[in-house]
Amino acid sequence: MLRKMVRDFAEQEVAPFVEKMEQGIFPRELLKKMGDLGLMGIPIPTKYGGAGMDFTSYIIAIHELSKVSAALGVILSVHTSVGTNPIFYFGTEEQKETYVPKLASGKYLGAFCLTEESAGSDASALKTKAYKEGNEYIINGSKVFITNGGEADVYIVFATMDERRKDKGITAFIVEKNTPGLIIGKDEKKMGLNGSRTVQLTFDHMRIPQTQRLGEEGEGFKIAMANLDVGRIGIAAQALGIAEAAYEQALQYAKSRHQFDRPIISNQGVSFKLADMATKIEAAKLLVYRAAQLRTQGRKVGKEASMAKLFSTQTAMEVVTEAIQIFGGYGYTKDYPVERYFRDAKVTEIYEGTNEIQRIVISKYL
Ligand code: CAA
Repeated sequence: MLRKMVRDFAEQEVAPFVEKMEQGIFPRELLKKMGDLGLMGIPIPTKYGGAGMDFTSYIIAIHELSKVSAALGVILSVHTSVGTNPIFYFGTEEQKETYVPKLASGKYLGAFCLTEESAGSDASALKTKAYKEGNEYIINGSKVFITNGGEADVYIVFATMDERRKDKGITAFIVEKNTPGLIIGKDEKKMGLNGSRTVQLTFDHMRIPQTQRLGEEGEGFKIAMANLDVGRIGIAAQALGIAEAAYEQALQYAKSRHQFDRPIISNQGVSFKLADMATKIEAAKLLVYRAAQLRTQGRKVGKEASMAKLFSTQTAMEVVTEAIQIFGGYGYTKDYPVERYFRDAKVTEIYEGTNEIQRIVISKYL
């Protein structure tokens, strides 16, 4: 029922908005509707304003939305997995009551501020600094590539209180959008995912009350990693949605496009491509839903999430490339959506941990 509901919403409400997003318009009104449908807090219990459904349901929503708009997929994924979950799982009861119902209902949008100019894959090398003054922390530094930045109401900010201690020096904070000293910087001009905002942020002597610290001092890196484990399943589902959309379009096109007096699908050069695409998508789907199921059961998912992300995002890139090949010259134009899928797919191999980082995580488990 949920899959059908999200699919109907995506086809009826999201699809007509895609062109506006391609022009860089942030889909505020869609997020409002998604909040009304309960999609902004699917795995959050009803006690905290969520839909009270399981993690697999959340993955179904990301998967279905991303078939129509991968940009909307990443907005929802970041909002839920790394924007809301850190507060839900690591916040005090007061922090949970203050923020989670607003985030889960879609009244607030969440963002996650870990990455810096010189701390991408090496996330614990971050340089944003926090020090304590009385009952407050003062934060100075800057972040890059912040999804939902500039639109979010709540930012989970990671800063070091002792750079020499690397990961053990990092502390997490809950920062509200109007906090003095929080400066929204330039928008990144991206290859794809238009309509999803990605900005730089600066913290200039930003004062944060102690009550806004998330977890204990020095616990920040673990909070980031634990939520990224789960977040990566969302990105895997986003990539799966892109791959399926590209495959379905390529299949239809291969059946209807005639060359040499026959549909191009009657050539094995084309039908074998489609056979490989369908097979890889099936394998990616099994990995994504297996990781989601383990998470739903409350089991550890570090390895499975990284495997799902690695395989599904790689599949997306392979499938969109072949889909363009099947469309030929038309695939290279903006007359068909496959060129958008191609531009949207690439970053899934990069954010929430590059696929090289996923291999590091997987190999640590072996
Ligand atoms: N859960 C809980 N704790 C974890 C953990 C996890 N998954 N992974 C590591 N830790 C803990 C370790 O146990 C260790 O603690 P102890 O010493 O107490 O055992 C500590 O964290 C440090 O672990 P490592 O030595 O393994 O850390 P590292 O510095 O070598 O880094 C890494 C490991 C996997 C490479 C990590 O830096 C990483 O994931 N890098 C990629 C960063 C990333 O994914 N960024 C995404 C940005 S958000 C984003 O992209 C959102 C978006 O816009 C779409």
